[in-house]
Amino acid sequence: MDTAKEIFKRHQAQTFPYPSCLEVKFTKGNYIIDVDGKEYLDFTAGVSACTLGHSNPIITEAVKDQLDKYTHVMVYGEYIQSPQYKLAKLLAENLPKKLDTVYFTNSGTEAIEGAMKLAKRATGRSEIIYCKNSYHGSTQGALSIMGNEEHKTAFRPLLPNCKEIIYNDINSLKNITNKTAAIVIEPVQGASGFVTPKNEFLERITEKCKKSQTLIILDEIQTCYGRLGSLFGFETYNIKPDILCIAKGMGAGMPIGAFIASWELMNLLTFKPSLGHITTFGGHPINCAASLACLKHLLDSNLIKDVSKKERLFRKHLTHPKIKSIRGKGLMLAIELEDEILAKELVEESMKKGLVLFYFLFTKTAIRITPPLTISENEIVKGCNIIKQILENK
Ligand SMILES: Cc1ncc(COP(=O)(O)O)c(C=O)c1O
Repeated sequence: MDTAKEIFKRHQAQTFPYPSCLEVKFTKGNYIIDVDGKEYLDFTAGVSACTLGHSNPIITEAVKDQLDKYTHVMVYGEYIQSPQYKLAKLLAENLPKKLDTVYFTNSGTEAIEGAMKLAKRATGRSEIIYCKNSYHGSTQGALSIMGNEEHKTAFRPLLPNCKEIIYNDINSLKNITNKTAAIVIEPVQGASGFVTPKNEFLERITEKCKKSQTLIILDEIQTCYGRLGSLFGFETYNIKPDILCIAKGMGAGMPIGAFIASWELMNLLTFKPSLGHITTFGGHPINCAASLACLKHLLDSNLIKDVSKKERLFRKHLTHPKIKSIRGKGLMLAIELEDEILAKELVEESMKKGLVLFYFLFTKTAIRITPPLTISENEIVKGCNIIKQILENK
């Protein structure tokens, strides 16, 4: 009989030739347990998604409770469903006034797609500016603004009028003109290995966009829900989005995203044409219930406040001659190593030693550290010791 691994590799579409093939049995806290009962400490959180760790009773109860009431009842935006409107209200209460209207999607990519459409509809312009090395999703609109040609070439032609600029290069902001509908930007660049903003880059974008009446679409798909030590990244870095995109961590392990704007802006999708953006499952009530429970917990606990303390602990315990630098912010950290062979060996060997680490999309010499916000100080030290032990033997 075929093993689970054989079936997985033969019948399930693959994205990468060498998946780790960890066969999950169940999860608990900040650990994943495989079918042999081996425990893996999770320093990846399903790529910044499992904000409150795994099988967190807060999320499990919210999901079960909603499951008992109702699941899908109607396409998005028709019926009044309490998990949706309560989440929209709580988000609005914790955002600036001009971000008071939430459109729920199924994923981050769809949030970006919706935001790009809204910017075009609002400005009557089609040009979108994005940064080299940015990642905003994998559908054709989001791919058009991906800052990595290697991943785009095979899928051209993509959207016209998408212009690339250089992240952290103030000079390249001259490309933002009164022809530009929007700039799409991440507060911390994810796929290129957690590159943080410098030289007042984000502040200068705000100034430039104000002059040219260009909208700022802030991609906080990976930074939202506390990962940088503030509920949203724009609170850490001084930038004021017109449209905010969130996903990943907002679902605490469930699939949900959103783009958020002012009521006046968002209302444009209701007319000319009506149904300007539609989705069947966007804002699924179970996922909204999970996201609402997660948000309430983040607001009521010290988890976000503790992020910077945990970052310091990681930085303190990740000193080793083979680690060139630690980049990033909060619980979004990148270990920069000497070369890509060492990076690959570190991920593979850490797995054998019961620690989940993971790669970046565009840089091969760095390893991501994005644990659940619930990671404990003991777990941080334990994981860092595994990393140092592996590097010591290289
Ligand atoms: C910054 C950023 N934008 C967009 C996306 C796409 O989100 P999703 O995979 O939920 O479609 C991701 C996912 O990794 C991301 O990190």
